[in-house]
Amino acid sequence: MSTVPNAGDGRVQILADGARMPRLALGVWQVPNGPECVRAVRWALEAGYRHIDTAQAYGNEESVGQGLKDSGVPRGEVFLTTKFYPGHRDPAAEAERSLGRLGVDYVDLYLVHWPQGGATWAWPGMERARELGYARSIGVSNFGVRELEQVTAEAAVAPVADQVQFSPFEYRRALLDAAKRRRIAVEAYSPLGTGRHLRDTTVQRVASRVGRTPAQVLLRWCLQHGLVVLAKSTHRERIQENAQIFDFTLSDEDMAALDALDQTDGTAQARENKWW
Ligand code: A2P
Repeated sequence: MSTVPNAGDGRVQILADGARMPRLALGVWQVPNGPECVRAVRWALEAGYRHIDTAQAYGNEESVGQGLKDSGVPRGEVFLTTKFYPGHRDPAAEAERSLGRLGVDYVDLYLVHWPQGGATWAWPGMERARELGYARSIGVSNFGVRELEQVTAEAAVAPVADQVQFSPFEYRRALLDAAKRRRIAVEAYSPLGTGRHLRDTTVQRVASRVGRTPAQVLLRWCLQHGLVVLAKSTHRERIQENAQIFDFTLSDEDMAALDALDQTDGTAQARENKWW
């Protein structure tokens, strides 16, 4: 049984620190700083998204902030995530710079983007960012079970989320199970395999059976496994399509067919190929 509240098909995940994280986010990885990013954020907020995920490494925090302003949606209604670039040394100082670029006075969630130089060195600085009020919640990204254990063992405030590459083809079951036991929310990035998984015949067969698109099926699979899911698109109609995932259910049989696509052997690791 899952220990993560709202691990069914609810729209909000309650984090271990009590924060409410909307389970669908717009991701803006690889979207250049500029009008395309500003528009995508505004369209997503107009389509009902209430969670936007960026990172210092993406270089587009200014545009995310601009899109948020342009949308007219009050800051307090939007869950905003950014990530510490671990090539820098001071997470708290970098968080303050992010706030300046985003044009906000806090982020909802601040993640260590990847465990470069080890899992633990950045964490005291992340805790400081939280104490200073720059971030309401703190977590990690691209951390496998071993790294989660290392950081949790030394933390005064434990990470509440781990954002990892996750899809039926990267069904990191051991990582998901361990995170759930520790009440760490798992956020799925690249749930469409950066577009590749949309062409898979099993995904397409399930999609035609349920009368939905392959993208909706892949995103819905994440929700039904208790994940928070990041959908990335810069096209308005796709941004809207990707939000229509709370009004249908995949059967146990369809979930099992998708689960069987896993190519990681249910790994506890966050990445097969590390770039750091
Ligand atoms: P685009 O941004 O041009 O719309 P992932 O989330 O796995 O990283 O995948 C993102 C990729 O999938 C992007 O190239 C995005 O293209 C594309 N994409 C996102 N949503 C859809 C959709 N509903 N239908 C088709 N392609 C999509």
